[in-house]
Amino acid sequence: GVKKREVNVLVVGLDNSGKTTIINHFKPHDSKNHDIVPTVGFNVERFTSKALAFTAFDMSGQGRYRNLWEHYYRECHGVIFVIDSSDKLRMVVAKDELDLLLQHSDLKNRRIPILFFANKMDLRESVSSVKCSSLMGLDQIRDKPWHICASNAVTGEGLSEGVDWLTDQIK
Ligand code: GTP
Ligand code: MG
Repeated sequence: GVKKREVNVLVVGLDNSGKTTIINHFKPHDSKNHDIVPTVGFNVERFTSKALAFTAFDMSGQGRYRNLWEHYYRECHGVIFVIDSSDKLRMVVAKDELDLLLQHSDLKNRRIPILFFANKMDLRESVSSVKCSSLMGLDQIRDKPWHICASNAVTGEGLSEGVDWLTDQIK
């Protein structure tokens, strides 16, 4: 078959937002992880979409590891930013981290697409993707294409729509 283009995607967001669960969903059946634990540092994972072969840098969202994120900004072709849509209390923290990312010299003025997942849509306390995007101030993003999808990483709902969008932006 035709060789898919190799791209790097950076997966960030606060701890417990569901990053590893999301990436696990895309991995081939035989390499899926059956018990997901909080990520230490980061993991490198591989998966493919219809047109692209992704290398995903699944970063830890814990405070003490967030300083690792910036080391991968330079070489990424796209960003997946995962938000726990049920964690309204920490949405401001997620927004602060997003603002730091957007202001970083290695991402500024680059047209890097950002896919947001408003994850954990199944939880009763969760807010809609529209509400999530206003709490995160996404309408202020001017220099990058972005898209937000409500998702449930446990069932996989909403995940393919997101990665299809990202694929169209990068390919
Ligand atoms: P760090 O590696 O610590 O940064 O966390 P993470 O963002 O990788 O989160 P992880 O994938 O480890 O998921 C954290 C917890 O949330 C796990 O218990 C998951 O099963 C759960 N979880 C993930 N996505 C969803 C979802 O959409 N709905 C529900 N109900 N639980 C979810
Ligand atoms: Mg993780």
